[in-house]
Amino acid sequence: MEGKKVEQYYSPPPKLGKWEGFRIFLWNSETGQFLGRTGASWAKILLFYVLFYAVLCGFFAAMLAVFYQTLDPKQPKWQLNSSLIGTNPGLGFRPMPPESNVESTLIWYKASDEGNFLHWTKELDAFLEEYQKGGTSANGAEQRVHCDYDKPAPPGKVCDVDMTDWGHCTKEHKYGYNKSAPCIFLKLNKIFGWKPNYYNDTKNLPEGMPTDLQDHIKKEENAQRHRLNTVWVSCAGENPADVENMGAIQYIPRRGFPGYYFPFTNTPGYLSPLVAVFFERPKHGVLINIECKAWAHNIIHDRFERRGSVHFELMVD
Ligand SMILES: *[C@@H]1O[C@H](CO)[C@@H](O)[C@H](O)[C@H]1NC(C)=O
Ligand SMILES: *[C@@H]1O[C@H](CO)[C@@H](O)[C@H](O)[C@H]1NC(C)=O
Ligand SMILES: *[C@@H]1O[C@H](CO)[C@@H](O)[C@H](O)[C@H]1NC(C)=O
Repeated sequence: MEGKKVEQYYSPPPKLGKWEGFRIFLWNSETGQFLGRTGASWAKILLFYVLFYAVLCGFFAAMLAVFYQTLDPKQPKWQLNSSLIGTNPGLGFRPMPPESNVESTLIWYKASDEGNFLHWTKELDAFLEEYQKGGTSANGAEQRVHCDYDKPAPPGKVCDVDMTDWGHCTKEHKYGYNKSAPCIFLKLNKIFGWKPNYYNDTKNLPEGMPTDLQDHIKKEENAQRHRLNTVWVSCAGENPADVENMGAIQYIPRRGFPGYYFPFTNTPGYLSPLVAVFFERPKHGVLINIECKAWAHNIIHDRFERRGSVHFELMVD
């Protein structure tokens, strides 16, 4: 019965042309609807969304505030062995190959061609910018003091890295790149609060340590005992041929990262210590595989995880 009644009142919508239908959808003068809604309906829906987003923003801000309560801007929340980066620092080298080739670890240049090695010297200029004297207060340069093994930095200060007497490995000498005797800089990655556990006992050096490094450590012991508190560095060709092609190297200013630069605690102006590896006479025109390692009891070498050691190739044409 009811169904029939409804049918009686039902009339199909008037047939309209496409354009006419759209015009009525835009503004229906009969019902006062604009885009299918009346003014009051639009106002309600607008009010709803304003309130909805206001509450959403408020909720987000409140949660963010709660989250920030748990953080300290000066130090990481998870440190050392409770953090994901852990306690085993990686070793890095500079200059880095061009960005277009992120996977590459090849340093390849023509010493005779100025434009060719410019990439590498520019890259080093940029990397060493903050190490230059006369930095601005913005990067905390005035916090840097001269340190020595028996003279660590006072609280709130950091140790300077003085590159003035680094011989060929300075900007003035183009880091040796125009003489086909390049310098490659090594840097230990910063880990907040990490303290090295030095190989400072010559009777307790690991078997895998290269003998030239062992000899060096023994020599240092005879010279000045406290200099043993150093994270030692060794670089070597990976295969016998590489060893031969690499030739002699020098570590500038010394063969390791002095202990007074550790731990890194995010003090403004902190500079990572650097070791410049100066290749005196690498053989021309061959690819030389080189591996450098940092040595401390608490640095474990893992080539695949890139911890404690670094691999790169050098090719001088
Ligand atoms: C983390 O280091 C602390 C001391 O530095 C040590 O007591 C603790 O056992 C270490 N935890 C793990 C999981 O190694
Ligand atoms: C390399 O550059 C330095 C500094 O510009 C210059 O003193 C030196 O003579 C150059 N060496 C060669 C071989 O061009
Ligand atoms: C050797 O290094 C450890 C830390 O790794 C340090 O506690 C100790 O004092 C150092 N020994 C000397 C003689 O400096």
